[in-house]
Order: sequence, then structure tokens, then C-alpha cells
Amino acid sequence: MRIAVVGSGYVGLVSGACLADFGHEVVCIDSDASKIEALQRGVMPIYEPGLDHIVAKNAAAKRLVFTTELREAVSQAEAVFIAVGTPSRRGDGHADLSYVYAVARDIAPNLKRFTVVITKSTVPVGTGDEVERIIREANPQADVAVVSNPEFLREGAAIEDFKRPDRIVIGIEDERARAVMTEVYRPLYLNKAPLVFTARRTSELIKYASNAFLAMKITFINEIADLCEAVGSNVQDVAHGIGLDKRIGGKFLHAGPGYGGSCFPKDTLALVKTAQDYGSPLRLIETTVAINDQRKRAMARKVARAIGSDIRGKTVALLGLTFKPNTDDMRESPAISIVQGLQDGGAIVRAFDPEGMEAAKSCVSDVVYGADPYAIAEGADALVLVTEWDAFRALDFPRLKALMNDPLFVDLRNVYRRDLIARHGFRYVSIGRPKEDIPVSLSSAAE
Ligand code: UDX
Repeated sequence: MRIAVVGSGYVGLVSGACLADFGHEVVCIDSDASKIEALQRGVMPIYEPGLDHIVAKNAAAKRLVFTTELREAVSQAEAVFIAVGTPSRRGDGHADLSYVYAVARDIAPNLKRFTVVITKSTVPVGTGDEVERIIREANPQADVAVVSNPEFLREGAAIEDFKRPDRIVIGIEDERARAVMTEVYRPLYLNKAPLVFTARRTSELIKYASNAFLAMKITFINEIADLCEAVGSNVQDVAHGIGLDKRIGGKFLHAGPGYGGSCFPKDTLALVKTAQDYGSPLRLIETTVAINDQRKRAMARKVARAIGSDIRGKTVALLGLTFKPNTDDMRESPAISIVQGLQDGGAIVRAFDPEGMEAAKSCVSDVVYGADPYAIAEGADALVLVTEWDAFRALDFPRLKALMNDPLFVDLRNVYRRDLIARHGFRYVSIGRPKEDIPVSLSSAAE
């Protein structure tokens, strides 16, 4: 099938490359000529494990091409994906749909036959109706079906998530779109990934409801972690104990410094606004947003308390800056609030991140970057694990202790256990765990 994908950013590029890998003929379009030129040279605009390989393989097979020219690609396509950004609108948190609507206007005059236009971007309920209206207004002769097909890709695992999804949600208002979308995803269908057909507005809401629920689940365990610290329980054991209930499930119950990224913060805010606009406020999600914002700011205070009353002039070394591992994405990362809070208290901040340091330079200032954990630990008064990169999971603590001014390790992702760290002479502070870690039984720890 001939497919056009408008927007070669995080969602569009991964979707286009994976659709090409299914055997479709895909044209990825972007208005950013430098991005397209780099992609034509095999240079990726984002860090996503495996993306460069899948792009190179399909570009070599001539199933995947990159262009700034939309007209030709759209006029030839049977399916056109809209995969441009929908950032939070400045000031009010609504999703900014100007890029989506601009693409709808660009597509319209180039629809020469029955074409399915698909919003892959995360868009508020009702956007598909507006996209359809714009297209019909711009080209009354267009024979078009506008479909919602939200993505559920996690950064750092996007290709895996695209190729082995839990479900494919497709919102249609025109039965003819069903056959086309079934053809688009036929290879996945064979993988038994359920194609869930719904009304278009329902599909749009499924995306927001999914992300909001996941953000709420994380915030739930983060609050339980604070209670654990007060009552002397272990949040990892609580998460394990409740997660064994299949109705709860063990995933997304890792307590940490708060969620970040380009999706949860933006999508929870947009859903809250949509709900308020329709007079049916989502108070659980409003509270989730507020708690998460507070939590990220509270983490700097947690580090300051661990160091001692006054952090003025103290050196704090941060392990990890990105909002999660295996990405270079700094958007809404807890590290941003942590750096600002520590610097406001007069601390000197150093940092190392395997992929995020370049991106961090436009988010935080006056940070001293180092080449590895040991470079930033030299003379430091505290070492703080902010992002759980694999590179931080087997640190050489004797070497760190010899380098540091004060052997304090603050583990905001509970990667380590107190007994291991204490053995090397470190003071250890973590999230939601009591002074002495009672080991989880080996059988369950093996999971
Ligand atoms: C998320 C959704 O998972 C994905 O389905 C959707 O399409 C896009 O948004 P992403 O934002 O890439 O994906 O990352 P995710 O792995 O979901 O983590 C989001 C944030 O939650 C990160 O800051 C992460 O550190 C945090 N998190 C996640 C926790 O703090 N605890 C957890 O148990 C899981």
C-alpha cells in the first residue's frame, strides 16, 4: 500500500519506518529541509534505539523515502498519516492543533481519489471532526475518510511498541476506512494484535484516558512512597504486593522523582482542559498533575535534607538528566526542577547523562558536565541518581568513595539497596524505603 506520513518527528518517523518494514511503500514528509536532508543521509533527528537500522534497511529497499514535497506523495497515497506535533499551547495547557490543521489544509487539494486521512498525533476529542471539516471546505470534491489512530509508543521502546502493540485503536466514521486500515496493519493482525475499531471521538479519548491513567498510577505509587517513608514500610514491596493482583498489575508502579516526558505532562493537562471545557472536570487527573509538579520540585529539597541544612557552596553530582533512560529527551524531565532547586539553594551542580547532555544545555544553565560518573563525582558532596540508565547500575563504589568529598548517595529510582551501599561506607537515601531494607524474597525478586 502507498502511504504518506506528514511529520517526521518522533511519532511520524518511527511509524513511517515500521510501516515500511511491514512492506508498505512509505513517503515521510517534513517541512524542515535540514531534517529531511539528514534523514536522506541516514542521520536520525532523534535518539531511539534501533531506529537508524530500520530506516537504513527500508531506505535501501526503496520502501522508505524522505521529502519536503507533500503534493506528489499525498496524491499517490491510499493512506495519509498526520503525525505532526501537538504541544501544550502557551499559557493555557490546551493542545496546540495549529500544525495539525495546517497539514489538513495542505493535504486537501492533493486528494485525487478515495483517501484515508489518519490522525496519528495525540489530538483532543473532536479534532478528527475539525480535520474533516477543513478538508471538505478546502476541497469539496475530496472523497476522504478521516480516521483516528493514536500511537502508544514509549520513548526508548518505540519500535518494539509499534511492532508488538497491546492493541491498535482505530476510530472511524466511514465504513470504507475499515478495509484500508485493516490492510495497513495486516502484518500486526497476523501477530494477533487486536484491531479495536471504535467511533472516531472514542478513539481520541482512549489515547488521553490511557496516558492519564498511567500518569495517575505512577503518582499513586509516588504518594504511597512518601507514606512508606513516614510509617517505615518499603514501597517496592508494597508495589510488588499489590501488583500481583492481576486487576492492578505490577507495571508502572516504580516510585521515583515524578513523571516527565513529552506525553504524560502534556496529555494530562490537555485532557483536564477538555474535561473542564465540556463541564465534566476530571478531578483525579487535576490532582495528579498538581501532585506530580510538586513532587519534581520537592526532590531538590530531599537532596538538600540528605546533605544537611545548608547546601550553599556544596557540590552535587547528578547521574542522568533525561526524563527516562534510552532517550535524549529532556522534556519535562524531573532533572530540570532538581537542578534549579539545588542552584537556588546555592549548590554547584554537575551532571553526566549518556545521551541527554546536549539537549540539557537548552533546559538548564551553569551545570558542569562530565564525561562519566567518576569525573563528576570528584570532590562532590553528594551523588544523585536521577535517571535509571543501565550505565548507572553497576557503579564502582570504592572508586567513588575515594573521589568524593562526602560519601552520600541519593537514589531517586531505587536502583540500589542500602546494605550494598552502606558496606562501602556511603550514607544512602532512597525513595519510600526504610532505613534497613528487608530483602524481598528471592523468588519474587527474580521476576
Ligand atoms: C508514555 C506512554 O507509556 C506511552 O504509551 C505513550 O504513547 C507516550 O507516553 P513515554 O512518555 O515515552 O511513554 O515514557 P514512559 O515509559 O511511559 O515513562 C513516562 C514517565 O513516567 C517517565 O518520566 C518515567 O520515568 C516515569 N515512570 C514510568 C515512573 O516514574 N514510574 C514508572 O513505573 C513508569
